[in-house]
Amino acid sequence: MRGIILAGGNGTRLRPLSLVGSKQLAPVYDKPMIYYPLSVLMLAGISEVLIITRPAETALFRRLFGDGGRLGMSISYVAQDEPRGIADAFRVGADHIGGEDCALILGDNLFHGADLPPMLRSSAAGMNGCVLFAHQVADPEKFGVAEVDRAGRLVAIEEKPERPRSNLAIPGLYFFDGEVVDIAKRLTPSARGELEITDVLRAYLKAGRADLMWLGRGVTWLDTGTHDSLLEAGMFVRDVQRRQGTRIACVEEIAMHMGFIGADDCHRLGEEMSSSPYGRYVMNCARAYGRLPASARLRGRP
Ligand code: TTP
Repeated sequence: MRGIILAGGNGTRLRPLSLVGSKQLAPVYDKPMIYYPLSVLMLAGISEVLIITRPAETALFRRLFGDGGRLGMSISYVAQDEPRGIADAFRVGADHIGGEDCALILGDNLFHGADLPPMLRSSAAGMNGCVLFAHQVADPEKFGVAEVDRAGRLVAIEEKPERPRSNLAIPGLYFFDGEVVDIAKRLTPSARGELEITDVLRAYLKAGRADLMWLGRGVTWLDTGTHDSLLEAGMFVRDVQRRQGTRIACVEEIAMHMGFIGADDCHRLGEEMSSSPYGRYVMNCARAYGRLPASARLRGRP
């Protein structure tokens, strides 16, 4: 399965922060925002990732991850010249997808929880068209909302409904088969002028090929698109990390746990940042790895 991180957009709600810089490079406590969606793809077992950016910022993301080789991955980059909507990712990323299954994650979505990695891997393995996720929220009217029947099966998707029929928001993480490129190519812009991801999801739903996976209480989903939510996400990460002594979305640690790199490589990456607590954490993870029982590995901390 190939991965795509959609990390362009205008970020209007974050201005002036996002005027000349990418919001997906803004710090969420101790690391750039994009580490969080990247770690989710890695935990799904994906090592080939395309990052879609605003044209002026491609070089900055490349400086951060290079070709991905240091993490044992292949990371490539492409610019989206205009923010034409989330579904434009499948047009811009068509070559990268190349008819394979793909996972799309929005560059400003943060997930955390031990239940997530096994859920991601089982969804990817058992996919029949597309998988979308549902997460209970207090304010569903702000999101795409999943309507489900009594058996919990998906029956409809509404975008920011005034009167939501459920409190199940659809987060910015989706799995699709290779057909998604053709579906996206046939889309026309919505009333707000965007190629809508909900239209892609509805096409799969109509064909009876959309599965809904409920993210239970064991998974936290945070959006980081506003000043308050960005700060709150940073505080959440700091609190969890301090309490547990682990790091969320530490891509070097995850690359090692996923077998993309060895413990020596991981230690070397940590050493390069050894004056920061993050770097020392990476080095400690590498040192501890060999001593971990097999059951404690791959517990993934996105
Ligand atoms: P949005 O939150 O829909 O848009 P935005 O990030 O530009 O922010 P704002 O609403 O404040 O103007 O985007 C969700 C994610 O998808 C975010 O990471 C940006 C990205 N995105 C693109 O890369 N290209 C696009 O065309 C759109 C619409 C979003």
